Amino acid sequence: MSLKEKINPERLPRHIAIIMDGNGRWAKNHGQHRVFGHRNGVTAVREASEAAAELGVEYLTLYAFSTENWNRPLIEVNALMQLLLQTINDEISTLNKNNIRLNAIGDLESLPKVNRKNLMKAIEETRNNSRMTLTLALSYSSKWEIVQAARRLAEQVQAGLCKPEDVDQQCIEKLLTTNGIPDPELLIRTSGEYRISNFMLWQIAYSELYFTPTLWPDFRREDLYKAILDYQCRERRFGKTSEQIQNVKKQE
Ligand code: FPP
Repeated sequence: MSLKEKINPERLPRHIAIIMDGNGRWAKNHGQHRVFGHRNGVTAVREASEAAAELGVEYLTLYAFSTENWNRPLIEVNALMQLLLQTINDEISTLNKNNIRLNAIGDLESLPKVNRKNLMKAIEETRNNSRMTLTLALSYSSKWEIVQAARRLAEQVQAGLCKPEDVDQQCIEKLLTTNGIPDPELLIRTSGEYRISNFMLWQIAYSELYFTPTLWPDFRREDLYKAILDYQCRERRFGKTSEQIQNVKKQE
């Protein structure tokens, strides 16, 4: 039985988020410049997206460029922007062929104009696709996202559109860039690092975390299957006891 066949389609995460890490180390292992690792990371992006869509995962979110990544050497930042530009351009037809809708979260205003334009075009050209939503987190950080949500909420209160005592979780969720997207049930991080790195801090409150030593450019379909199989062995309790969860299962 293959790994793919072992996956229970009834217990598939609706939303998987991935912190793609290890491109620089992968390049170093191959005696190459860091950018070589990013270029090879594109194959892994393609594999993960196609495998997730084929399985029936509805949402896949990839952490492609963080707010903090702007602090990397200019040559690497420029190369990453160029790579994103080219990849998005090249992949529009494949996204359409696979019925995948492209989406983006983050401070998109801070992206170079040409990237933003190209990204918006790809989002527009894939907006009617319905099999899976592929969200790229670009110039994204959770603290940035929460600050912009708090600012907009303060403006709403100031304008008398909302009272402080009416502020609840839903109000905040509506102002996050992920509004309309369910929270990820599964968060994967590659490269053997055990960190969240300012990624979807609100949204992963109850996500199952999966860490793999695989460096991102080596990530293939089988790695995604392994993560999903591991997820399917977990008991998700959401603060309840194991007995409560088991009793609900028995009643079903
Ligand atoms: C982290 O590895 C990776 C990134 C900051 C960039 C991810 C970008 C890609 C995979 C390229 C294309 C992406 C898309 C969505 C088209 P790192 O550089 O931090 O690696 P290190 O920790 O080994 O230095």
